[in-house]
Amino acid sequence: MMKILLFFLSVVLSFSTHMVQVYAETGFTNIDCGIVNGYTDESTSLYYYPDTLLEAMAEIGMNANISNEYMTSASNQQLRTLRSFPNGSRNCYNLKVEIGNTILVRASFMYGNYDGLNLTPTFDLFLGVQEWTTVNFTGPETIVRKEIIHIPTTEDIDICLVKKGSTTPFISALELRPLPDSTYKRTTSEYLVLLKRTDIGSTTNGSIFRYNDDISDRIWSPPDSPNNVKPIIDASNRGSLDDGDYKVPIPVMATAVTTTSDNVTSLSFKWKPETKNCYVYLHFAEVENLHSNEFREFDISVNGELPIGIVTVKPSEKPQTWESPFTFTGQDVEIKLNRTANSTHPPILNAVEIFMLYNFSKVPTERNDVEAIRGIRESLGVKKNWQGDPCFPADLHWDGVECEDINSITTVNLRSWGLKGNIPKYFGNLASIVTLDLSNNSLEGDVPDLLLHLRDLKLLNLSFNNLRGSVPPELIEKNGSDGFHLFLDGNPDLCLSGSCGKKQPVAAIVASATAVVFVLLVVFIISWKLKRERKEHMPLEEARPLESRNNQFTYSEVVSITNNFEKVIGKGGFGTVYYGCLNDDTEVAVKMLSESSNQGSEQFQAEAKLLMTVHHKNLTSLIGYCNDGKNMGLIYEYMCNGNLEWHLKDRNRNSLGWEQRLKIAIDAAQGLEYLHEGIKPPVIHRDVKSSNILLDRKFRAKLADFGLSKAFKLESSSGVTTDKVCGTPGYLDPEYYISTRLTKQNDVYSFGVVLLEMITGQSAIIRRNNEYIILVKWVTPMLERGDIQNILDQHLGVYDINSVWKAVDLAMTCVSSNPEARPNMSSTVMDLKVCLKMQMAWSKKLESRSAESIEIIPLNIGTGSVPSAR
Ligand SMILES: *[C@@H]1O[C@H](CO)[C@@H](O)[C@H](O)[C@H]1NC(C)=O
Ligand SMILES: *[C@@H]1O[C@H](CO)[C@@H](O)[C@H](O)[C@H]1NC(C)=O
Ligand SMILES: *[C@@H]1O[C@H](CO)[C@@H](O)[C@H](O)[C@H]1NC(C)=O
Ligand SMILES: *[C@@H]1O[C@H](CO)[C@@H](O)[C@H](O)[C@H]1NC(C)=O
Ligand SMILES: *[C@@H]1O[C@H](CO)[C@@H](O)[C@H](O)[C@H]1NC(C)=O
Ligand SMILES: *[C@@H]1O[C@H](CO)[C@@H](O)[C@H](O)[C@H]1NC(C)=O
Ligand SMILES: *[C@@H]1O[C@H](CO)[C@@H](O)[C@H](O)[C@H]1NC(C)=O
Ligand SMILES: *[C@@H]1O[C@H](CO)[C@@H](O)[C@H](O)[C@H]1NC(C)=O
Ligand SMILES: *[C@@H]1O[C@H](CO)[C@@H](O)[C@H](O)[C@H]1NC(C)=O
Ligand SMILES: *[C@@H]1O[C@H](CO)[C@@H](O)[C@H](O)[C@H]1NC(C)=O
Ligand SMILES: *[C@@H]1O[C@H](CO)[C@@H](O)[C@H](O)[C@H]1NC(C)=O
Repeated sequence: MMKILLFFLSVVLSFSTHMVQVYAETGFTNIDCGIVNGYTDESTSLYYYPDTLLEAMAEIGMNANISNEYMTSASNQQLRTLRSFPNGSRNCYNLKVEIGNTILVRASFMYGNYDGLNLTPTFDLFLGVQEWTTVNFTGPETIVRKEIIHIPTTEDIDICLVKKGSTTPFISALELRPLPDSTYKRTTSEYLVLLKRTDIGSTTNGSIFRYNDDISDRIWSPPDSPNNVKPIIDASNRGSLDDGDYKVPIPVMATAVTTTSDNVTSLSFKWKPETKNCYVYLHFAEVENLHSNEFREFDISVNGELPIGIVTVKPSEKPQTWESPFTFTGQDVEIKLNRTANSTHPPILNAVEIFMLYNFSKVPTERNDVEAIRGIRESLGVKKNWQGDPCFPADLHWDGVECEDINSITTVNLRSWGLKGNIPKYFGNLASIVTLDLSNNSLEGDVPDLLLHLRDLKLLNLSFNNLRGSVPPELIEKNGSDGFHLFLDGNPDLCLSGSCGKKQPVAAIVASATAVVFVLLVVFIISWKLKRERKEHMPLEEARPLESRNNQFTYSEVVSITNNFEKVIGKGGFGTVYYGCLNDDTEVAVKMLSESSNQGSEQFQAEAKLLMTVHHKNLTSLIGYCNDGKNMGLIYEYMCNGNLEWHLKDRNRNSLGWEQRLKIAIDAAQGLEYLHEGIKPPVIHRDVKSSNILLDRKFRAKLADFGLSKAFKLESSSGVTTDKVCGTPGYLDPEYYISTRLTKQNDVYSFGVVLLEMITGQSAIIRRNNEYIILVKWVTPMLERGDIQNILDQHLGVYDINSVWKAVDLAMTCVSSNPEARPNMSSTVMDLKVCLKMQMAWSKKLESRSAESIEIIPLNIGTGSVPSAR
């Protein structure tokens, strides 16, 4: 029976005069599948040829037009017609290319319900034997473009549509574009499959750029929605915008994205690759009118890892392209451009190309065999679907052809194929053939000598043909030896004896079987295992519950604890503070009381014992005391971050930000609140000041030195006059001077001064030209003028001005000259908490704003479905 009748496909691209002309101009190949006559495309001015120019293409597959209702969705004429392939599992276009020149191959598809079935097909696309991608559609109007870039190693390539399931493959257009040598440089064993090519700063609202703008006819699509864009300002710049090696078109380079404000340092975009081996080209050029000494510098990182590249964009320089040093893999890939410290401007990005980079994993049939079998196909006019590679993929190998895994043809069995004509000489080039069966056809002419040179040939069946003349005697001699068998029955005109003809053995043309070797060059992908930056974890340290063993220390114990008073960590009104270490390694601060503040040791001991009962998270704990003759000392928990005054004054230190200061103020206020309201009888601190606010490892604050005035009998009890005005200048309540009555309000005043110190960064007493002025007196006139900026510490960091204002109000109420007007500590704590809340809400808002301004640029995925993973 006759098999399916398909005319053989001539693989040679026929050149019409037009084609030659276009080749001469651009080197492009433009094929519009399914048309009858060529035409000049309106938008590109390129001439498109019907695919029937590829000889016999008209005979396989059939032309169709997309249905009328989708005509308007077809963005160009090529998409309006197509060729479909109901027959054969593989149908290929064979195109001439230049060996060694990088080419871009683009296949376009639009279903447009051409067959009236309203069923979008799914099929595979192959480049030769290599799976390229799957073509499927979201709807009849979907335009799918598939693009591959590679360096051909043969002078022709096959682009094959392979059936997948029961739907019918089709193609709308096929385009080949040679690329400049210096671009997209890969080895011959690699190929790039396009995922996205985005004009990321596009202002065109949907329109693309291609030829003529792009000399290589790459198609630059806008993002799905316009990004924040810095369009070109200086038109004189334009001329140089296509100077880059990659020749990205001027209108694409002329628009760029950058951050919304100069304060935002990063630009990022991400996509879901759903596949491996992403490979990125980023194109940059300055489009703003910057001064010549200004520049952008940014590093490039992927998925939050350490930077893998750094780019400097200078105003006068030609466009540049950054190419990823290796491929990326992941469910999501995010690329971030982060401004470097010395950059004068935030990052910029003009265009993005994302590819998938693969190795050719399939080795085609040996080139010599391919050429031989194609020669046979042409000579004999084989009317079978002999297209693409004869052997691979294995399930698509040519009928009658069998191969070995060393990629060569071992069997050609064309028995009863109805073949006519002479036995083509090409059979002599099938160097690895073992079985050749051409029996039961109508072949004529001689039995060629060439067959003699097929060393592996074991079975040659030429029976039942119309062969004539003599048979090379060597063939007959060989019969039976080395497992070789020859069958020539049923060729009545053939002379077997060897005496019947004058036939001379013809000098054989030995086909030099130059194996086409695909040199697989190893790509060294730099192993990229940079560790993520790790944040150092501070050990959490809560105030350890201190054992209340023997709380009384002897002087000699104190000497040993302090290592003979080796390290002074503070000096105060009551004495000197030394660093110490208990036997169990607990760090302590030992305050040795100066003799002047000395008092009855019994009372000291009583007071010390009382103070040890006061426990609050915002009060420094008294661990013990020393009451050894003249030597009296107090042993406190050690606060490793020193005191607040020190931090406010030391400008070299990372200064405390406003939020931190508020937290410290709240801590100190809570400590004071506890002394005032939490214990009975209440304790008046009497010496609230920034140097008495100590900071632990986590910068939580504790109030120190509380109750000392009482313990040392500097006053009797609250509200009682004392014999001596004491405290620290600058913090002292003027009311106290007048009445010398000690009340909670005195502490509130001092706390107000501390708050002002935190707001202004100034000391409680400011020296101005040999004059001393207390802080309260310094800020009051300025605040009365509403001049807050001038009193604020320059080192507050980021702050909510409303939060600061509220704190200023609170502080000024605390230092109000009328004690009755001052708030108590409970309401002070509450107000401070409101300040903190305001500040935190503000910085959260700021954070989210800056998170927004780390722009996530959605890349266009509108055209072309995501190629499936390989
Ligand atoms: C497909 O094959 C059938 C026979 O099986 C034939 O009638 C038809 O013409 C072929 N179609 C094309 C487009 O080659
Ligand atoms: C497609 O449309 C063109 C013009 O309308 C027409 O000439 C041609 O015959 C159509 N082709 C097919 C296959 O229907
Ligand atoms: C295309 O096919 C792939 C694999 O079969 C599938 O994952 C993908 O969702 C399909 N895409 C569309 C647009 O149908
Ligand atoms: C962009 O196109 C969309 C729909 O195509 C339209 O709604 C929008 O107004 C356009 N925007 C501009 C700036 O032209
Ligand atoms: C950005 O910085 C400028 C000056 O450096 C400043 O005026 C502006 O407020 C800042 N913007 C934001 C949102 O922080
Ligand atoms: C940007 O780089 C700076 C250092 O120059 C770094 O501190 C910062 O975390 C980086 N930002 C992002 C978003 O990667
Ligand atoms: C920016 O600073 C880095 C590191 O200090 C340096 O390598 C780089 O050259 C500087 N860039 C410019 C443009 O000066
Ligand atoms: C030879 O071929 C014819 C058709 O060309 C067929 O009918 C016949 O069965 C074949 N004979 C053998 C022995 O295969
Ligand atoms: C040779 O071909 C003839 C005709 O097709 C067939 O009958 C015969 O069996 C073949 N011989 C071998 C060994 O295959
Ligand atoms: C070759 O040998 C086989 C037996 O091995 C025989 O059947 C056949 O006829 C021989 N061929 C020729 C051409 O003599
Ligand atoms: C290509 O193959 C080489 C060698 O097998 C391998 O090292 C490299 O990772 C491959 N490249 C890609 C993109 O798969």
